Amino acid sequence: MKKFLICPAIVGAYLSLVSCMTNENPDRISVKQFGVLDDGRAVQVYTLKNSAGSSIDILDLGGIITAINVPDRDGTLADIALGFDNPEQYLTDSPYMGALVGRYANRIAKGKFTLDGNDYSLAINNMGNALHGGIVGFDKKIWQSAASTADDAAILTLSLVSPDGDEGYPGALSATVTYTFDDQNRLTISYHATTDKATVVNLTNHSYFNLNGHNAGSILDHVMMINAATYTPVDETLIPTREISPVKGTAFDFENAKPIGRDIGAGEQQIQYGLGYDHNWVLEKSSPNDFELAAAVYSPKSGRMISLYTDQPGLQFYTGNFLDGTVTGKDNTRYQKRGAFCLETQHFPDSPNHPNFPTTILRPGETYETTTVFEFGILEQD
Ligand code: BGC
Repeated sequence: MKKFLICPAIVGAYLSLVSCMTNENPDRISVKQFGVLDDGRAVQVYTLKNSAGSSIDILDLGGIITAINVPDRDGTLADIALGFDNPEQYLTDSPYMGALVGRYANRIAKGKFTLDGNDYSLAINNMGNALHGGIVGFDKKIWQSAASTADDAAILTLSLVSPDGDEGYPGALSATVTYTFDDQNRLTISYHATTDKATVVNLTNHSYFNLNGHNAGSILDHVMMINAATYTPVDETLIPTREISPVKGTAFDFENAKPIGRDIGAGEQQIQYGLGYDHNWVLEKSSPNDFELAAAVYSPKSGRMISLYTDQPGLQFYTGNFLDGTVTGKDNTRYQKRGAFCLETQHFPDSPNHPNFPTTILRPGETYETTTVFEFGILEQD
């Protein structure tokens, strides 16, 4: 099977978006209360709409994407993002569904790293390691929010200041994340951060997608391409071994599109460690930090497709291996194993402990700046 054809215009298109900002337009973006947390804090939900009739709902809690309504090949809308109806569930039940993850998305071995001769200890919250920013990570904080619009897009800007020592990380980190949803069904996520002390940063969005609908069952029939010739193998606790290994001849080879389910049952040790795909692919780049196509995935059933672009070096492709039907999501859905996939653009896991990986260190005076685009399209059956 060949690679998907992707419209090259996208790379330039997102860059020009910010140049045409206008005042907030209620037809494009609206806000209402989503609910109230048990501690009394109110949570707002913004709905970003476009002229194609699509919409995306995002909370000020954790910058969480709670719904993505996009058309199938017949023009029928469905919500393709897993999530919850009650805001408290995002604090208690959620495996980071839809959330902004920080300060450090993915794992840091044993929650320890050394920076400029100082040792830092983070909370251990996953198989002896630190995962996704700690106990109260960025996904569980209420962000400052501001809505605006451009000629062809709705924009939600979220910001927060994470104090020095927050979850064990050094330095006060000021983070701003901008979600832009345009008339071409593109969701652009721009991340920006500065610090007052050397620290490590790795931000991502952790949406769970099912291109047939959030409650449509298995994603194993979805067809996936990842623009990567290598990946970072892990140990049994999902910490990279340090190697960067070729995907060729393994279940990890998605250079040419194939169904997600084709090799997921392979007996390979790496698949066993992850209980499926839960690994970091090293994205092919013309030069480091280039904004390029990272992956494309489509559902033969609905025709819905995501084309993913990023300037980040890595992509965690996760196949919902730990979903087990125990939590009740939207529309009373029990989300089951392999009921969704995540495309987490990122720096490599545990980079602070691997000098051979691209650095995640941010110093005072520097700016962390990265962009990822999810383009929601249609692929007619081939
Ligand atoms: C991790 C998985 C984890 C999931 C939810 C992914 O990024 O790699 O191992 O289960 O997030 O926390």
